[in-house]
Amino acid sequence: MYFKNKKNWITKRVSYFCDHNIERTYPMKKNIIFLALIGTMILACKGNKSNEKGDTTSTEQTEFLEIPDIPQTVSSQPMRDEIQIYTVKIGNDPNKSNLTASFPVTPYDFVNENEKKFTQVLIDEFKTELKRRNKQESVSELGFSQHFEIKFKSQELLVLLYTQNVSYGNNYDMRHRVSLFDIKNKKKLDIKDLFQNELAFKNFSSEIKNLARQELENYIKKDEHYANDKERKQVLASLEEMLQRGTEPTEQNYDALFFDEKGGWFIIFDKYQIASGAMGEFLIPIPKGVINKYIHERFLKPFVPKKSSEIPPQSSTPSPISTIDCSKVPCVALTFDDGPSIYTGELLDILKKENVKATFFVLGQSASVQKNTVKRIADEGHNIGNHSYDHKDFRKISDTEARRQIDLTDEIIQEITGEKPKYFRFPYGAHTKENLAMVERPIILWNVDPLDWKHKDVSYVTKAMSKGSPQAIILAHDIHKTTVQAIPQVIKNLKEQGYHIVSLDDLFRHKKITNGTIYSDGN
Ligand code: NI
Repeated sequence: MYFKNKKNWITKRVSYFCDHNIERTYPMKKNIIFLALIGTMILACKGNKSNEKGDTTSTEQTEFLEIPDIPQTVSSQPMRDEIQIYTVKIGNDPNKSNLTASFPVTPYDFVNENEKKFTQVLIDEFKTELKRRNKQESVSELGFSQHFEIKFKSQELLVLLYTQNVSYGNNYDMRHRVSLFDIKNKKKLDIKDLFQNELAFKNFSSEIKNLARQELENYIKKDEHYANDKERKQVLASLEEMLQRGTEPTEQNYDALFFDEKGGWFIIFDKYQIASGAMGEFLIPIPKGVINKYIHERFLKPFVPKKSSEIPPQSSTPSPISTIDCSKVPCVALTFDDGPSIYTGELLDILKKENVKATFFVLGQSASVQKNTVKRIADEGHNIGNHSYDHKDFRKISDTEARRQIDLTDEIIQEITGEKPKYFRFPYGAHTKENLAMVERPIILWNVDPLDWKHKDVSYVTKAMSKGSPQAIILAHDIHKTTVQAIPQVIKNLKEQGYHIVSLDDLFRHKKITNGTIYSDGN
């Protein structure tokens, strides 16, 4: 079993860093496809648990990656996030293959180009695999996603941590990678650049190996599946070769080594890197003493205690009670998912100009990147809903992971706005029965779906979004330029039909709504 995993790990690590060697990943994928096949069959037996009224994913769809200009003058607001998010979306039906991949748009062209190329590798992998599957009539579908966090940002350095969730069927495989930029010298740094010299990297890696072994030992000690300590010892010993290989001083092994704003250093070992797949991934904090011995002093300097640039948490002023009574007059609620993104500022400008309140179902990970945008959403009287941390299909994750997705996003939003989001929307609307109770608030779906992720055409989206009905909840995504461009005309059309365009607070003000219940409209 371990041997097989090791082989998987090797193929994975090789393929991941060779942009044009996607075919090398097939040995791993064959195993996963087989597991996925079984998983899909089990899922099919359980019945369709999704509420999604999805459309078929166009496999012909070509995704052009265009880095948009950061809107410099569009927004009248002084608060703007220096780093914003660009998201590529192919498909949005969880029962069909789909991809969501985000990368940063920064004021630095060399960073943008680099991260765009990195993202293109994942998109190419997705497309190649999709084409191969179309030929083989595989029953399992692909679910790919990529999100990032800003771990450190200064005038000199930028550290980003990417998480890619790759599913070939029923389960996600997580991959991590750090992007390290020397802003001052306009250069992407290698991992080896972090060290004083080659020997320092070598000695560092052997200390990391010991730390990792300790971590594995702790993990195995806690696992009650083992009969006794003798068995535990055997398991640990059997991992030694893998541990050795997975911690050698190479760029690949340390591609998820990073430091954060608080001066902490960490390494993430992906699944199969130092242990069997079942043991998952390991995040290991690295003691200060180890860092100080081997890391180049240049990377130790940024952590002289400085004033935090975080936005101080504060309660946003409650939006004035609306005089609109949606139980008596026709209302529609505009909801925007998957943001914030590079286009959210422009959308907020439009809503402000038209004096329209909407609801934003944000991703926790994106909110943590564009904090100022989230703050602005709240300050301008819109509702904010929790749309999970990084848009996983909740049917493919454990209850523990589901909990984490909900709680982490609540924490991030609360830290920015001072308020826990009152509404929840599952990514793709997909969930299990267990998930419903977990959310502890009303679950909001929709009854108007303009498929704006598919039809990136302003006049199509305008028409589709303007088809309101009394108390409708309209779904849209503020990660698409075309959607945002459609909004002025959508607002005009809806108002002409006599609708009041309202936030969810207003839509539900005169209706009793309960936790764990799904609402697709305000009726
Ligand atoms: Ni979504």
